[in-house]
Amino acid sequence: MTDTSTQDRVIIFDTTLRDGEQSPGATMTHDEKLEIASLLDEMGVDVIEAGFPIASEGDFAAVSEIAKNSKNSVICGLSRAKVGDIDRAWEAVKHAARPRIHTFIGTSPQHRAIPNLDMDEMADVIHQTVTHARNLCDNIQWSPMDATRTEDDYLCRVVEIAIKAGATTINIPDTVGYTAPAESAKIIRMLLERVPGADDIIFATHCHNDLGMATANALAAVDAGARQIECTINGLGERAGNTALEEVVMAMRVRNDIMPYQTGIDTTKIMNLSRMVATVSGFPVQYNKAIVGKNAFAHESGIHQDGMLKSADTFEIMRPEDVGLSETNLVMGKHSGRAALRSKLADLGYDLADNQLKDVFVRFKALADRKKEIFEDDLIALMRDTTSDAEHDTIQLNHLRVVCGTSGPQTAEMTLEIEGKDCTTTATGDGPVDAAFNAVKELFPHDARLQLYQVHAVTEGTDAQATVSVRMEENGKIVMGQSADTDTVVASARAYINALNKLLIRREKTKPQDA
Ligand code: KIV
Ligand code: ZN
Repeated sequence: MTDTSTQDRVIIFDTTLRDGEQSPGATMTHDEKLEIASLLDEMGVDVIEAGFPIASEGDFAAVSEIAKNSKNSVICGLSRAKVGDIDRAWEAVKHAARPRIHTFIGTSPQHRAIPNLDMDEMADVIHQTVTHARNLCDNIQWSPMDATRTEDDYLCRVVEIAIKAGATTINIPDTVGYTAPAESAKIIRMLLERVPGADDIIFATHCHNDLGMATANALAAVDAGARQIECTINGLGERAGNTALEEVVMAMRVRNDIMPYQTGIDTTKIMNLSRMVATVSGFPVQYNKAIVGKNAFAHESGIHQDGMLKSADTFEIMRPEDVGLSETNLVMGKHSGRAALRSKLADLGYDLADNQLKDVFVRFKALADRKKEIFEDDLIALMRDTTSDAEHDTIQLNHLRVVCGTSGPQTAEMTLEIEGKDCTTTATGDGPVDAAFNAVKELFPHDARLQLYQVHAVTEGTDAQATVSVRMEENGKIVMGQSADTDTVVASARAYINALNKLLIRREKTKPQDA
């Protein structure tokens, strides 16, 4: 029987760096992964799923490094139900003070059909692979992928096999976001009732958000007895994403009267992590997203504002400070110095070496010349703007001048430096952004398809910076490009060029090796 002192403690398992990174275009660099892992560790996340070590050398290196650096969190690596995968995951996580191997196989009829295994054959594979993993590591998580579409009897059977083979956590994934709260709870209850040994292990819930129920499904599973929630910052993840860490943690805190569970999360770190993940993944947070959206604590209507002035709890069920949002985020102006910038960036989660600070300071001053007041969000946009210091990029924007207005055609005169050579053109388009993109295409012909073009004003006011994100696809490879500038057309052109530069790197990496 599980110790009663741990009954109300819910383990937070963050998979931003694995499931979150699987969102098309959300690829993070090695250093970005390390930085996020260190913030998750500091925030009190119990388990960090740091990656899928067999997937690539890069994933392996990131998981190993995170394992070496982790202070408190358990570090977990994912592996399919294959001995080679499991060995690779172990090689990566074994450096951690507290390592975990997570191995999975699809158990629903839809997933059993892919390796073409019948129920008995799959049961054997589960027994063998979990036993193998347990011989390497004493902290083993096993997942029957697509559990919510797996037959009840078979689910109970395979969970029992995994427990007997040594799994210490059994994760129940709603892989396709198909379940609903009542069913999510029913599955956990059934497993606790029917499976021998179920009381000795932890059940986890892992929900995708295809029907918008991921958070509700996770909390329902906890009510039924699950004691680990798998989630990501901002709900990042494939398709509609995963359960959002900030949502489950704040829901359990604010409604502790009906969900009397505790987590070890320092909620004041939520906002910084949310911003950091939005920055590095290129997936901006929607304005009306619970907890971390820009409007989550904004009170627009007269009646709300009036109530708020009299007493904040008229319309606020949590305080902005609880999630690390400072009352005013006006931070700096053109007279602010380097030390102030370093300290403010450190508050926001960016620890910069001296040479990095020097570069950011130059860009900060340039921005402060154009914009009177610099807010936290401006600094984050500045840090996000990887295009401003991309001096080694193949394609660089040297000059852009656009003509736009009520009478067309809108025109863009552009000079790009391509592999060190200046090339100039003038192109027209349906609006200034279209004209600028056409100019890029003329100077650097390509077949990549623009899948998404998004503009966000970083702060209020007509002098606000615009953050532009573009997603481009070429032969199935997807990349995100981003840039920020007080001139929306410049930011757009830079974001587009940023995406093209990333595609060039991807092309280079996938070139067949010379014989
Ligand atoms: O959604 C899912 O089923 C997963 C598994 C690998 C756990 O992410
Ligand atoms: Zn998943």
